[in-house]
Amino acid sequence: MESINFGIKGFEKLFDGKRGIRKGSNVLIYGKAGCGKTIFSLEFIYKGAVEFNEPGVYVSLEGKKDNIISQCEQFGWNIKKLIKEKKISFVSMNLTDINRDFATTIYEEAKKIKAKRIVIDSLSLLTLSPIFIKDSGQFSLLHKDKIYPGKNPSQFIYNLINILNDCGTTNLYLTVPGEKEEVTKDGVSEYVCDGIIHLKTTSLGKSFLRLMEITKMRSASVRGGIYGFEINDEGLVIE
Ligand SMILES: Nc1ncnc2c1ncn2[C@@H]1O[C@H](COP(=O)(O)OP(=O)(O)O)[C@@H](O)[C@H]1O
Ligand SMILES: [Mg+2]
Repeated sequence: MESINFGIKGFEKLFDGKRGIRKGSNVLIYGKAGCGKTIFSLEFIYKGAVEFNEPGVYVSLEGKKDNIISQCEQFGWNIKKLIKEKKISFVSMNLTDINRDFATTIYEEAKKIKAKRIVIDSLSLLTLSPIFIKDSGQFSLLHKDKIYPGKNPSQFIYNLINILNDCGTTNLYLTVPGEKEEVTKDGVSEYVCDGIIHLKTTSLGKSFLRLMEITKMRSASVRGGIYGFEINDEGLVIE
């Protein structure tokens, strides 16, 4: 089994040294807004391209391409050069652009640049796409021409994860907690994914701590425990 190197400083501390995250895994990056999911995943894509010769596709439903690029530049990551060299591809979409071809569009983009990494930012936003509207307890279609495989967001996400799994890439799916007791809003990604990395913040006097915990990771030897991390000028560092 080959493990993937995320390229995030100190990330190896979360494993006991024998088996990290298997290449080809589907991993949920889980946590409330502002906890660092986007920066974590951008670094995963950037480091993959510059340090490990693993091209990556970053799909954003949250932000415009230019904003994402300038966010990367804050950390000194020369993303524009990597885009030119076809080592990184950014796909930015509005929720209204999402249709049944969403998964295959990403799949084809991944094949084009021979991607080894894919990020979907985020699943939770995807569930809010207007292709899903509630109609007397059932989900139905807003636009007939936007028929998607699956009757509701959970099936759509289930299909998405399965299709992207066929790429053989290591995939990160970003998501926020659901209401009440559910782990996620879609109720399915936490079961389908091989792993869950939970990011959170906690108040400490007048400041706060950023925390990371792996709560599930198939076939990896996870050390267990909660680790503090920082976001500094160069990206993430696990303490
Ligand atoms: N250049 C930076 N240096 C330090 N911290 C930063 C920088 N840019 C963003 N942050 C911190 O990262 C947080 C946002 O992280 P982000 O990955 O966008 O969260 P999420 O995607 O989980 O909503 C911000 O709240 C901010 O505190
Ligand atoms: Mg984000």
